[in-house]
Amino acid sequence: MRHDPLRPGKFIAFEGIDGAGKSTQLSLLSYKLINKNIPIHVTCEPTNRPIGTMIRQMLSGQMQSHPATLAALFVADRTDHLLNPTEGILAKVHQGTTVLTDRYYFSSYAYQSAHLDMEWVIHINSLCANTLRPDMNIFIDTPPEICFERLIKHRNHLDLYEKIDSLRQARADYFISFDKMRHLENIQIIDGQRNIDEIADEIWGVIEKLYGGISTALNDTVRP
Ligand code: ADP
Ligand code: TYD
Repeated sequence: MRHDPLRPGKFIAFEGIDGAGKSTQLSLLSYKLINKNIPIHVTCEPTNRPIGTMIRQMLSGQMQSHPATLAALFVADRTDHLLNPTEGILAKVHQGTTVLTDRYYFSSYAYQSAHLDMEWVIHINSLCANTLRPDMNIFIDTPPEICFERLIKHRNHLDLYEKIDSLRQARADYFISFDKMRHLENIQIIDGQRNIDEIADEIWGVIEKLYGGISTALNDTVRP
């Protein structure tokens, strides 16, 4: 794809339960897009900004909180992530940069609904959803048992939702939220139970379609 500064960049959100393979696939996709000369910005939620840092303290158990407070903080973190005038996703997309985020509002629908009414969680996220919906939500669907095995292998401390029952509940709530929002959202469910390259190939296939054929356009770019 030729970079056109007047054309907004794409906004792509990676979703999935903890350990599903989101960051692995996001990083592989980012290299492929860079190779195609597509300007990108890689980011994540919770952010590394002040509200995201407070959320991480709550997730690790360092700070106690009510689930509604946590849900509201995720919204505040997301609003800052989206609308911050210089660093925000919206500003980047308007500049023509493709933004890849590791989690966006579907994570709140899936995880915060364990303790709260999903409709309320969707409602409190509506400013973000109505401001910028992802061009594509890529859900990496990896069985909770596999994710849990990966988490215990690589971590010496497990966060709030990093328990097998929480992962099962989050996966089930992801699917409930997809059913609720399917009429408004582009959701691609990718089988995460394969090797890293097979998953990456399938993701590349859906991304090429999103761009309307990156390879062909790239050939145009390199032609004298
Ligand atoms: P997430 O960002 O969803 O938490 P990661 O991408 O960090 O997940 O992956 C969790 C762990 O699983 C990492 O150690 C990663 O190398 C490994 N992993 C990721 N994808 C696969 C896969 N398809 N097969 C086997 N291991 C994987
Ligand atoms: P993350 O750092 O992405 O964890 P992982 O790489 O293991 O998937 O997310 C941290 C935790 O935050 C994760 O358990 C999911 C949770 N979370 C929510 O509960 N709600 C949200 O809106 C977001 C963005 C994350």
